[in-house]
This record gives sequence, structure tokens and C-alpha cells, in this order.
Amino acid sequence: MKIAVIPGDGIGGEVMDAALTVLDALDLNPELIMADAGDDCLERTGTPLPDETLEAVGEADATLFGAAGESAADVIVKLRREFGLFANLRPVRSLPGVQCLYPDLDFVIVRENTEDLYVGDEEYTSDGAVARRVITRAASERIVRFAFDYAVGDGRGGVTAVHKANVLKKTDGIFREVFYEVASSYPQVEANDYYVDATAMYLITQPHEFDVIVTTNMFGDILSDEAAALVGGLGVAPSANIGEKNAIFEPVHGSAPQIAGKNIANPTAMILSTALMLKHLKKPQEAQKIQEALEETLRNGLVTPDLGGDLGTDEMAREIARRIEG
Ligand code: NAI
Ligand code: MG
Repeated sequence: MKIAVIPGDGIGGEVMDAALTVLDALDLNPELIMADAGDDCLERTGTPLPDETLEAVGEADATLFGAAGESAADVIVKLRREFGLFANLRPVRSLPGVQCLYPDLDFVIVRENTEDLYVGDEEYTSDGAVARRVITRAASERIVRFAFDYAVGDGRGGVTAVHKANVLKKTDGIFREVFYEVASSYPQVEANDYYVDATAMYLITQPHEFDVIVTTNMFGDILSDEAAALVGGLGVAPSANIGEKNAIFEPVHGSAPQIAGKNIANPTAMILSTALMLKHLKKPQEAQKIQEALEETLRNGLVTPDLGGDLGTDEMAREIARRIEG
């Protein structure tokens, strides 16, 4: 198993060290390819994303990414584009000992990662500006199929399409149409659809309704941050960017410069991203071991200050590793 490791800037390096401590406690002996990216890298090498890093990601079975600073958009957007990482996966799962609105949530948001308004095709007009919203059948079908396959593989009973087809009749009309076309070949999975504005409300009022949500790029961006807040916020929110050949796993948070270098960053999001990676690499038992060891550590309050504990980032990682080693 070959894993590219990009710590990046700020707390990126600290949470990555923590994740590697936890990974090391499993008997997987992966080959790690350390790679450079981000603001420090830019300063040292003149580019935030050197060719060697692209090569490392290309030849690895999967990549762990910590966080970048100001160059984050360049780095992660370029990586997503370069490797065709069309699916952004955001698990939304309550954790013990983490303050949240609901203690028992467990659903997943699958966000289309390549088109929609985020193609960034904007232009000024005489009295303002316009942006193009691109929705293709091909990309819609690919992401919807991914969501249904994920539902089947993860033993989930339903997939909900989220859109605004009542107003965006053509673009989201196509997305909804393709959704039900694909759904028909997964009769064992329940399919339904909601408008995005209603979904924004239901996420707060009745989030247990959701199992797998599949949606277009911008709605997914917004709803996944809302959903992350339901279960404890940035310090505990993992994510995956998945393509046909490559996949990158990263915490939702950034480089958090205010707390960098203090050994107080919460490593949970990075560690859960590592578990997601192992699941993706068909190592579900190892992923489960991480999940259980992490939950026990959280339950015992052996956590960083943001969760009310007094452990350092590295100490929390060692507590988790110790529980994995048994
Ligand atoms: P941020 O996620 O770095 O920080 C937001 C807030 O959450 C801060 O108060 C921070 O201290 C806290 N926080 C974040 N992660 C934490 C953790 N693991 N443990 C405890 N507290 C945590 O977002 P912000 O402040 O908007 O951006 C800071 C830098 O990060 C910017 O340069 C931005 O461009 C970059 N960024 C990079 C991302 C990436 O690499 N994917 C994503 C988001 C921002
Ligand atoms: Mg976002």
C-alpha cells in the first residue's frame, strides 16, 4: 500500500503527525511518500504544488492531505482537477464526548466536485456580472451513480437528491432527471428528492431523515458545512475527494495559523480522514479499529483543549494508538 503524505502548512503538519502515529499502530506497514505543498512550499520552491507532489499523488494508492494556508484554493482545486476527483464525500457522524446538536446522527453528503457555478465562468456586464452554471448529464450521472454505489457498499437504505429544479428548471432539471434514471437500476435503495432550501431547514429540524445526500457542487459546499456544525464542527469533520484512479483524504479545516505550533490542534478530523482512506482502500476492519479507538479516547475525555481536555495533539494521538495496539 503506497500512500502520499502532504502535511502542508500550519496545523497541517501537526495533525498529520498525529494521523501517522495512529496509522503506524495498525499492522499495515504502508509505504509513505512524503510530499510538499502550500505556502511554505511556495516560499521555498516558488510553487505551492511542485511536479514531484503531483507525481507522488499520481503513483500512490491514496493521498493524505493536511491543510494549506493562503494557497489552499490553488493547491486543492488544482489537485481535484488534475486527478479528476469528481466526488467530495463528507460523512456526518456524531461522536461521543463532542458537543453537538444531535448525539446519534450518521449520514453522508456526496457533493459533485467539478462543475456547477464553481467552473468560475464569470464575466462583467454593463451593469454587473453574470456567472455560468454548468450541469452536464455525464457528470450528474457519474456522481449519482457514485452515491448509489456508496449507499450499497456502506449498507445504507436511501439516497436523497438535493436541488432547486423548480427554479433552475434546465440545470437542476437535468440533475433530478438523471438521478431518477440512475435510481431505477438500484431498486434496493430508496430514492427521493428535496429542494435545497427545505433541506437546509430539515438538516436542523429532522436530520435523522437523511442517509446519503447527493447534490450539485455549490449546494453541497454549503450544506456540508451546515451539517458539519450539527456534529461538532471543524475540528472533527473529515472529507474525501475521490476520482476513478486517485483519491485524496483531508480534514475540512484549514491551517489554523492562530493555533499552529502550539500542539493544541484537534487531530480528530485528520484521523477520521485516515479511517475514510482505509475504508476506500478496502481495509474496513482497520478503519473500524481507528473509529473505535478514537471514540473510546473521546469518551474518556483524553482530548485537546477545544473539546475541553488538556492533552496535546501528539498525546491524544498516542492515546488512540495505544488503544489500537491493545
Ligand atoms: P481554519 O479551518 O484554518 O480555522 C477556522 C477556525 O477553526 C479557527 O478558529 C481555528 O483555530 C479552528 N480550527 C480549525 N481546525 C482546528 C482543529 N483541528 N483543532 C482546533 N481548532 C481548529 O479556517 P480559516 O481560519 O478560515 O483559514 C486559515 C487558513 O487555512 C487560510 O489561509 C485558508 O486559506 C486555509 N484553508 C485551507 C483549507 C485547506 O487546506 N483545505 C481549507 C480552509 C482554509
Ligand atoms: Mg466549504
